[in-house]
Order: sequence, then C-alpha cells, then structure tokens
Amino acid sequence: MENKKKVYPIDELATQIEALRKDGKRIVQCHGCFDLLHAGHLKHFETAKKEGDILVVTVTSDRFVNKGPGRPVFPHQIRAETLAALDLVDFVAVCDSPSAVHAIELLRPDVYVKGKNYADKCNDVTTNTFEEKQAVEQYGGRMFFTLETVFGSSSLLNQYFELYPREVQLFLEDFRKRYSAEDVLRALEGIRGLKVLVVGDAVVDEYHYVSPMGRTSKSNIVASRFLSDESFAGGIFACANHVAGFCDDVHLVTCLGLRDTKEGYIRQNLKSNVKTSFVYRSDCPTTVKRRYVDRLNLSKLFEVYFFEDAPMPDETEDQLVATLEKLLPEYDVVISLDYAHGFLSQRTINLIVERSKFLAVNTQTNAANIGYNPVVKYPRADYVCIDEPELRLATRDRFGAIEPLLTSVVEKLQSPKGVVTRGHNGCLVTEAGKGLTHIPVMSQKIVDTVGAGDAFLAITAPCVASGLPMELVGFIGNAVGAKAVTIVGNRESVEPIPLIQTIKAIMA
Ligand SMILES: Nc1ncnc2c1ncn2[C@@H]1O[C@H](COP(=O)(O)OP(=O)(O)O)[C@@H](O)[C@H]1O
Ligand SMILES: [Mg+2]
Repeated sequence: MENKKKVYPIDELATQIEALRKDGKRIVQCHGCFDLLHAGHLKHFETAKKEGDILVVTVTSDRFVNKGPGRPVFPHQIRAETLAALDLVDFVAVCDSPSAVHAIELLRPDVYVKGKNYADKCNDVTTNTFEEKQAVEQYGGRMFFTLETVFGSSSLLNQYFELYPREVQLFLEDFRKRYSAEDVLRALEGIRGLKVLVVGDAVVDEYHYVSPMGRTSKSNIVASRFLSDESFAGGIFACANHVAGFCDDVHLVTCLGLRDTKEGYIRQNLKSNVKTSFVYRSDCPTTVKRRYVDRLNLSKLFEVYFFEDAPMPDETEDQLVATLEKLLPEYDVVISLDYAHGFLSQRTINLIVERSKFLAVNTQTNAANIGYNPVVKYPRADYVCIDEPELRLATRDRFGAIEPLLTSVVEKLQSPKGVVTRGHNGCLVTEAGKGLTHIPVMSQKIVDTVGAGDAFLAITAPCVASGLPMELVGFIGNAVGAKAVTIVGNRESVEPIPLIQTIKAIMA
C-alpha cells in the first residue's frame, strides 16, 4: 500500500481538490458514518470511483452520528484512517455537521454518491438527502446511486458487538422477531393525522447557570457565582411542541397569569402548528420555575417557583369550561398533563373525562403538590402514564412490587391501557387482557432528565389512541425517553427524524 497522506481537515482538502479539478480531474464524493467498514462499502466505493477520477470520502464527526446508543463505536479519527487505508480512496475528511451539505459546498464534487436505499429520499424535503441533492446540483454536479446490496454497519454491529447490557440484548432479540423498523416507522406515520388537544399547567423553566465557590463565612450555605441563564417553554408548552412534531393538528389550552404573562415569549417558542386557547387569571404571574444549576455537571442546586397554585378565580374557570366544552368534541386525542398548579379543578377534570373521545392522563408529583395529586382523582381515562413515585403515591405503597400497583390504578380508572415510567429502569406497560410487559432502556447517556416523562406521554398518547400494541408503545416511549434525557431542560423537542434514525439503528 502506498504510504500517502490522505486525511485532511476539510478546508485544506477543498484547496487540494480545487487544484485537481483545474487539472481536469472529475471529483466523486461519498459520505457517511462508516462505523464498521464492510464488503458492501467496498462495492459502493468501487462503483462510485468509476464515475470519476478522484474519490473523496467524507465521514460524519462523532457528535453528529445519530445512530442510537453506543454509536459510533469507532471515533472519527479511526473511521477516517480506516477509509484512508483503502487504495480505492484518494482523500478523506471529517465533516463536522449534521449533513454532507457543508462538505459538498466546499468540495463541489462532480458526482455525489449514495446507496440506492437513499434514492427515494431525494424528493422528500425533510431529509438530508434532499438538501444534499440541491447542494450538489447548485454547483453543476449530479447525484448517483450505487445498486450494491445494502447490509448496514448497524445490523453487523448489533449482531457482533455488545452494544447493550445483556437484559436489553435479550429483549431486542425477542422484540425484533415481532416488529421490524418499518413497523415502528409506519406506526409513527399513522398518528400524523390525529387531532390532538393538550390541556395542562403552563410552566416556563429558567436555568440559571452558576459555579459554586464555597461556604459563606456567616452561614452554612454554598455561595455561587452567576454565569448565565436561559429559559424554556416547559410544562404543557413542551408537551404541545413534542406532539406537534408527530401530529399536524395540535391545540393547546392553558392559563396564563396576568401579573407577568410571558405570552410573547411563549408564542415565540411554540411550533407553528400549535393552535392556542389561553385563559388568564389576574392574581398571579404565569408559573416560572427557576433552577440554579451547576454549570459543570448540570446538577440542580436550588429551585424557586414563582406561581399561585390555589384554585383559579371562578370567572377564569367559567371561561376555561366554556372553551373546553367547545373544543373537546372536536379532537381525537386529549392529553391532560396535570401539575396541580391551580389549573385543573375537579369540575374541569370531570368535564374532560366526560367529553373526551380518547383521554390520556398524567398527574405530576412535584415539590408543591406531593401526595395531593394522585392520578386516581381522574374518574376515568383511556391511557394512564405516570412515573413510579406517582404510582406509589396513588396507591400509597412505598415498597410493594409495582406490577399489581399498576394493575390496580388502571382498574380504578377503568383505563384499558397504562404505563409506569421508571427512569433508568425503562417502563412497564399494561393492556387489559394482555398482562404486563417490561421494556428496558436502550441508552445510558444522560444529560438532564427534566421533562423525560412528559415527552414520553406526549408522543405515546397518540400512539395508544391509534391502537398500537402496548409493547410497541413502550418501545417507542423509551426511544423518546432516550432522546429526551440528552436534551438540557426543554431546550428542544424530541423530533421525528432523529427519533426514527435511533429506532432504525436499534432495530437493525
Ligand atoms: N436515567 C435514565 N436512563 C435512561 N433512560 C431514562 C432515564 N431517566 C428517564 N429515562 C427515560 O425517560 C422515561 C421517562 O422518565 P421518568 O424519569 O420515568 O419520568 P419523569 O420524568 O416523569 O419522572 C423513562 O421511561 C426512560 O425511557
Ligand atoms: Mg413526569
């Protein structure tokens, strides 16, 4: 093998390629993750190279590889060096962005090559391939699809590397016998047309990042230096935004506080397909939860609620009831996300229970309401989704096995379906007549667990309403949870494309 340097920073490579192009060489570019190089890739490169003179391979940098837990297995330096060892390949560069567009703009290849499984994505505006095609053609290049048999790195890695703990491996082996990645994708496509009404408490989350300095001289507390702050549309707003990625028609009902409504901020931070109906109470601000967060590890040091959790004034409640009376019958799915911050009275709850075609419920336990917000205050639901502490409070059982507790709660609510989410232990799902199934988590990568349960509820509620088997619902929910715990606070929503990529990699 010729010992020629082939791996360059992408900007430097662009200069070299420009010179080669001036010499009349035709440039071919392949792009991907190439986490485990295999025979399919070699065929792909061989065919690609025939389309021109110089073959450049760009590889996605580690932070943009979106192939699920444990991936990439090999860091980008290694992936680049492995590719460079091939005689077929003339140059390699690491591409530090989510798609190949930036690399294409720099390298301006005459031919940009993908595998045939990407061919139909060219016309789908939501894909990277669509944008990549636009970029290639903008510079007079063309796309080319190789017809080599595609057997992906993901399925080889899943087969031969221990990416998951034993329990998860066993679960997946069994789960893959009953469902394919296509089944999961079809299931998610199937909820797009559902009309979803989300009802619950407004929360704006504030993170104030600090660096703790040390104990003060006059009291036993740790003083911290302020660094920066940021806000997130949390509570029911985050829930609406999660749903809005997966369902086109979303309507949000909540209450803002007139002392400081934050309405401009809230509207700016809702997705464009979320319709809103707000009622206003005059005796308080819109709820703000300010957390002082250690910048170093994102651990929370202290929390302050700015809110009023006493029941809302009668006139506000009358307006809310009138709004709901009109909206409830128009929606296929109603999600009630109840933080007990003064928004949902028993009167409102009874109305929601009575008029919803399909009702999904979560009652949150938080510092303000502990013990006072059991899900059993709902007389009925079609889908109950609570976390383990909420289940134990609702059944007043601290130590018992959770299976009978979940069964007793769903029976009390006459709910045919239910989930208890269990943090790093995944979730337990149940369906009347079909027993209980435990679904483990696939990922140990945790940034911030705030909002994970809400994302789980938001995206699984329409899935349950569309009649998916609960085992599949739990799997989708945990994939959503795995994404949600990598997001700081509610800075972003869980989005369909990255979720689908994760699911495809897990199922391969
Ligand atoms: N530490 C964690 N490790 C892996 N997954 C987690 C972790 N915490 C939460 N999740 C995922 O998010 C889901 C909901 O989180 P959970 O903590 O149970 O709810 P909540 O945020 O309402 O308390 C879990 O079922 C799981 O899929
Ligand atoms: Mg929760």
